[in-house]
Amino acid sequence: MQGVLLPALLHPPTSKGKIASMKKVKVELGSNSYDVRVGAGLLARMGIWLKEMGFSGKATIITDTTVKGLYGDTLNQGLTSAGFNVTTLEVPAGEEYKSLETAGRLYHELTSSYAERNTPVLALGGGVIGDLAGFVAATYMRGVPLIQVPTTLLAQVDSSIGGKTAVDSGQLKNVIGAFYQPRLVIADINTLKTLPEAELSNGMAEVIKSAAIRNKHFFHFLDLNLGNVRLLNAAVLEEIVLETARIKAEIVEKDEKDLGLRSLLNFGHTIGHALETVSKFQIKHGQAVAIGMTAAARISHKMGTLDEREVIWLTDVIKKAGLPTEMPDLNMGEIIAAMKHDKKVVQDKVRFVLLKSIGEAFITDEASLALVEEVLVGQE
Ligand SMILES: NC(=O)c1ccc[n+]([C@@H]2O[C@H](COP(=O)([O-])OP(=O)(O)OC[C@H]3O[C@@H](n4cnc5c(N)ncnc54)[C@H](O)[C@@H]3O)[C@@H](O)[C@H]2O)c1
Repeated sequence: MQGVLLPALLHPPTSKGKIASMKKVKVELGSNSYDVRVGAGLLARMGIWLKEMGFSGKATIITDTTVKGLYGDTLNQGLTSAGFNVTTLEVPAGEEYKSLETAGRLYHELTSSYAERNTPVLALGGGVIGDLAGFVAATYMRGVPLIQVPTTLLAQVDSSIGGKTAVDSGQLKNVIGAFYQPRLVIADINTLKTLPEAELSNGMAEVIKSAAIRNKHFFHFLDLNLGNVRLLNAAVLEEIVLETARIKAEIVEKDEKDLGLRSLLNFGHTIGHALETVSKFQIKHGQAVAIGMTAAARISHKMGTLDEREVIWLTDVIKKAGLPTEMPDLNMGEIIAAMKHDKKVVQDKVRFVLLKSIGEAFITDEASLALVEEVLVGQE
């Protein structure tokens, strides 16, 4: 194995046997607390865990066509062998299906299959399925139990944790939604083996973001192990998913409804969202966030909070992860207008997540629009 495994691997396995290893993070939200279980080969155990949680009878899998072809059978068998009567509802893959129209069709199919109030919905797929099936679970019969079974890196480290569920409306992303916590999250890292490289990098942007805002030790680990991520080394992937999930859980526990601290997770996203919008989503989310993080680090430096060596370190790690750091050829006026439209600008000051050092972020309303523009122009 390349690189070095730091003591983060001290997270001890919590279960042995057929599974190579399984580790977990608990999201502590009082009566809405739940486990995020991370390991290789977990899908097949789902039925046993659901039974342990007191479920029996019917279960509904909501998934997309691609993921169904890859992992639908494994999950289905895991449930059926534990005695569940499984219905699988399929949606075409793609953000455009994260809509009220698809949700409407799913409600109809749930009623047709006689899904009841205690019939769990298992969201098997990436963030699109997690958000869509989560929203359906939150609203069908005023809420049915939701199990997140994320299969992209982004979904395993980010979207499956924290209870944000939503559908889009036209060009407006996530405008119709609900906070609805899952009862369990199962991140089977074996599913990452079939992920296209672009999707792996997309997820790595959120992993790097989490380390940059909260944990320098983990950031070092990433720096040393990015080669192992590309080689899909199981121990490294498991560690990365676990640690990023732990960071997200810790922030969500302190600010479940996104009223303050949770905005730290938006590091790199203020500029990132503007780039996505202005490029008409030709620039992918992870790439946009990567460029946004580089710019935010440079703004932090210009505002005197971050050492230049750390700006260079962050930029290097982002590049090593196969993500861009340079500004694309887009109209600066439109980028600024998109940030204003995002309501992050008040009296020419922009709300930004900045860094004090790698591993420590803070929120400010004091970044001037002129400085943001200066940094972005310098980054072209
Ligand atoms: N709820 C939240 O807190 C939150 C946070 C971040 C992002 N999101 C949402 O997540 C969505 C993006 O999620 P995403 O990046 O996972 O995209 P996605 O769900 O569209 O998945 C990307 C593609 O990968 C395919 N795929 C999924 N798993 C696979 C696997 N194991 N092997 C091969 N192919 C696989 C899918 O079919 C799809 O074509 C957006 O809608 C975004 O708004 C939500």
